[in-house]
Amino acid sequence: MATDFAARAAELREQLHYHIYRYNVLGSPVITDIEYDKLYNELKAIEAEHPELITPDSPTQRAGSDLSEDFPKVRHAAPILSLNNAFSEEDLRAWEERNLRLLPAGTQLSYTLEPKLDGLTIVITYENGVLVQAATRGNGELGDDVTANVKTIRNIPLRIPVNRDGPKAPERLVVRGEVLFHKKDFKALNEKQAEAGLPLYVNARNTASGTLKQKDSRITAARPLTAYIYQIVAAEGAVWDNQWDILNYLRDSGFQVAPHSQLYPTLSDIIQQLPTWESRKNQLDFEIDGVVLKVNDLRIASELGYVGKDPRGAIAYKFPAEEMTTKLTGVTINIGRTGKVTPTAQLTPVFIGGVTVVSASLHNYDQIARLDIRLGDTVIIKRSGEVIPYVIGPVIGARDGSETPILPPETCPFSGDAIVQLEGMVDYICPNPLCPERIFRSIEFFVSRGAMDIEGMGPQTVKTLIDKGYIQDEGDIFYLQRDLLLELEKFADKKVDNLLASIEAAKGRPLPQLLASLGIDGVGGVVATLIADRFGSIEAIMNATTEQIDDIEGIGPVLAQSVVDWFADVHHRRVLDKMRGAGVNMQAEARVAAGDSLNGLVFVITGTLPTLSRDQAGDLIESHGGKVTGSVSKKTSYVLMGESPGSKADKARELRVPIISESDLIQMIGGSISPA
Ligand code: IVH
Repeated sequence: MATDFAARAAELREQLHYHIYRYNVLGSPVITDIEYDKLYNELKAIEAEHPELITPDSPTQRAGSDLSEDFPKVRHAAPILSLNNAFSEEDLRAWEERNLRLLPAGTQLSYTLEPKLDGLTIVITYENGVLVQAATRGNGELGDDVTANVKTIRNIPLRIPVNRDGPKAPERLVVRGEVLFHKKDFKALNEKQAEAGLPLYVNARNTASGTLKQKDSRITAARPLTAYIYQIVAAEGAVWDNQWDILNYLRDSGFQVAPHSQLYPTLSDIIQQLPTWESRKNQLDFEIDGVVLKVNDLRIASELGYVGKDPRGAIAYKFPAEEMTTKLTGVTINIGRTGKVTPTAQLTPVFIGGVTVVSASLHNYDQIARLDIRLGDTVIIKRSGEVIPYVIGPVIGARDGSETPILPPETCPFSGDAIVQLEGMVDYICPNPLCPERIFRSIEFFVSRGAMDIEGMGPQTVKTLIDKGYIQDEGDIFYLQRDLLLELEKFADKKVDNLLASIEAAKGRPLPQLLASLGIDGVGGVVATLIADRFGSIEAIMNATTEQIDDIEGIGPVLAQSVVDWFADVHHRRVLDKMRGAGVNMQAEARVAAGDSLNGLVFVITGTLPTLSRDQAGDLIESHGGKVTGSVSKKTSYVLMGESPGSKADKARELRVPIISESDLIQMIGGSISPA
């Protein structure tokens, strides 16, 4: 038997060496990362059972490292270990049985179950409660000192305990966690990129890694990273008996601990939870690639010891693959309401994570060129959560020479106009605002639920109305005639009445909603509210200069220019005229002042407040005559501070600006939360 393992290990080593060479030297892998991991893990599993088969040249003996020359090095207080993987219930049972064999007969093992966060490891040191150092994993012994960058991550406390009544910090505490982008933050980051005409980030984990390794920590600060802490690497002056206590201690100190972490009395209880985790995965706002099981009793975990760099007392259970390879058979083109050309990959159907995928996003032509994706390529497709499946890249080693480059179209398939690429921009566009597809997409957007929300006007109805010549732009919607609508197929009295009623209701939508529905590049709900608040009416916005718009906090010059350009367009002005003529609301509601007790005072808000959201607190301050700004300066009257405050709290202390709580604020305005 042992000789079989020896032969298989040798075979695996040889295969892995070949794939490592293809990937790292030739840059043309012939298998996916997941297939690679499978081979690697099989070798690791054999070596775990038969340590005598480990050879010095085994790929498992190559210490992983993410060290970079840009940062000073830090020696970790204890080795930053890795985890062995399990892929099935049987793997987990075998893991427990192996462990039980090493322990006194009759030992009962309970476990914590935690999400396996798909980010990168961070190791943070606190001295007497103050964050003094943060480092990447590096090679497990030495890491990159990224303290300045880590300090910009808002949910990492700079001082513990965050609450005065929290547990006293030990003299020295080294914690470990994972840094990542929340899905919504990553999406917002990409929206900003798109707005600035810059390439989109494809992979959240790589982007998080790049963000953490910025030489200029201002860049890190501008990108909303989050950290979850799950382990104590070293502590002086404190001991814990089990992992569950550690998670509670971390939470009580003010660290963010991954939600749904749980303690279970037996492995069977955990196995029962696995299907719940697989379906929960897509609902979480962060990426996970599995769950981690940890022996709860830390004395037992340490008795179990290690295999190589992996502790026996913990294991990662990985979810089934979400990446597959298939053939790229064609590319179709969509034209969006702003004219943007989006290429979509047509695929030989492939089953990924329970769904048959036939098409996938190719993002843009810049990305296609950068990744050298060609028609006819075997491509790697990733499907994860609710995001549209996308092409990760080609399997270059699988080419036979028949593949052809993918180029942007020369003309718009809908209007026939020449496709152009604006200077400095990634996207190609159909420049004709009267392109039928652009018009369809912009009306479709205008009436949609997130925009003017005209019920009964789905994409099919929009198409019919355009085809019949009833509408040519958004303004025409408000002039639709009952008798003409009744002539349409399947449009009976009731349906027409409902549609006309929802059009009537849409005339009264608040100004920010109208503004956000017009399809102005970069103007969503938040920006629209800022602009509407400042100018008060469509007329005033139409006459605003780039400088005036750029002056609004939260709006930059690119966005300001996009707004000015949109309103300068004659076609757009004509549409707005039609709407005005039909009685569509174009004025902001007057803000009702609730009081003037905060007149002349300037506030900065930081951290999470106990009851109010930041927006609500801001509104409350403004409705009582105060002003809210983004950064602390000598002009700041008060810093309103909640839980897990950012660097603004430090700045306030430095400048001796008084810090107040939510209840202080409420007292200042006369004692009641609800605005008068
Ligand atoms: S425990 C010795 N817990 O997964 C303990 N790791 O594949 C090792 N990871 O390098 C870490 N979530 O970066 C632990 N809840 C969690 C985790 C977690 C993500 C990462 C960690 C580790 C990698 C191993």
